[in-house]
Amino acid sequence: MRWCWIWLNPQSIGDDNFVDNIVDMDSNKIICADCKDFLNKIPSESVDLVITSPPYFQQREYGGGGIGNEECIDSYIENIMTVFRQCVRIIKKTGSIVFNIGDKYIDGNLVLAPYRFALCVQKERLAKLINEVTWVKINPAPKQDPKKLIPATEPFFIFVKSHEYFFNKDAFLEYKDMFFNGKRKNAGNDVGKKYCALIENSTLSDKQKKMARDELQEVIGEVKQGKLDSFRMKIKGIHALPYGGQGGGRLNQIETKGFTIIKIYGNSMRKDVIESTVETIKGNIHPAVYPEFIIQELIKLLTKKDDIVLDPFLGSGTTAVVAQRLKRKYIGVEIKREYVDYAEERLRKQQKECQNDLFEALL
Ligand SMILES: C[S@@+](CC[C@H](N)C(=O)[O-])C[C@H]1O[C@@H](n2cnc3c(N)ncnc32)[C@H](O)[C@@H]1O
Repeated sequence: MRWCWIWLNPQSIGDDNFVDNIVDMDSNKIICADCKDFLNKIPSESVDLVITSPPYFQQREYGGGGIGNEECIDSYIENIMTVFRQCVRIIKKTGSIVFNIGDKYIDGNLVLAPYRFALCVQKERLAKLINEVTWVKINPAPKQDPKKLIPATEPFFIFVKSHEYFFNKDAFLEYKDMFFNGKRKNAGNDVGKKYCALIENSTLSDKQKKMARDELQEVIGEVKQGKLDSFRMKIKGIHALPYGGQGGGRLNQIETKGFTIIKIYGNSMRKDVIESTVETIKGNIHPAVYPEFIIQELIKLLTKKDDIVLDPFLGSGTTAVVAQRLKRKYIGVEIKREYVDYAEERLRKQQKECQNDLFEALL
């Protein structure tokens, strides 16, 4: 059986009276409003994660009259900052804020919109930027400019407001561990066997051989447990001697112990890079949907079950859909009614699929 979730009807709200009454942070909500006004109604320190992608600067006309089509970049950044300041107020001390902003060429010049925004946050000392996670697009839009490379990355900035922030590092891209652990078992055995034979055939003393065998077993264990991706061993008289930089320490080890082990933390390392295709959902009416996969990994990294996730620029509802699937609570704000309706439809559809799964599981 796949996941299942008790459905709480999202409240779709369009009138100010209701907005004024929102104090209950305990149920899922999608609100049709301008987030610059609406975020004022959310209590301070009540949200676990804000994750969002504001409209990019002069990129497209969404038709809702919101942020994005300011005349100059400074006004755009100021509007984004107005929302960001509210986000800092409403997140808990343990919470975090993720903003994904794309860049823009003006007269052939990249304006560096994401970095102007991040610098503004730093200048105001509003929050700490703990990571810039780079989205590497597997299928970027093929632009026609023969004298420019195709832009294929976008930043997801992770900000926190205190060092108490929640951070489940192991949950980020954890599928890589599952995949590589299977491979590692073999890699550990094969590499281990090769080095065992080399130790026995080496000119190391018996004491050095024992030490080498013990350390080798230890490192093979680490590979099998998934703590390490792989390792290399250099044995005196068999391998070329390392030199320079780190080699200084290694050379010393080879001279004193007769061997050195180089640990390789490859895929088990949690790197600030995430690869994903540009999303196209069949029938999606929104022109700028961000990938569910990236949002899923960031929500897993920054929240736990039942935490509250808020997206002030909800668009087609991706954040809410992923939050619902991961059993987090969601609040979404979107200025354009058509997108609110579409987001609700996505949530209903997902919930129905979930109920069908449950029904099948009971048969
Ligand atoms: C880049 S899109 C977000 C797309 C979304 N991440 C998704 O996956 O569908 C930005 C959205 O912000 C909305 N928007 C613009 N200004 C707004 C405002 N002041 N308040 C709320 N929503 C706004 C736009 O209508 C647009 O749907």
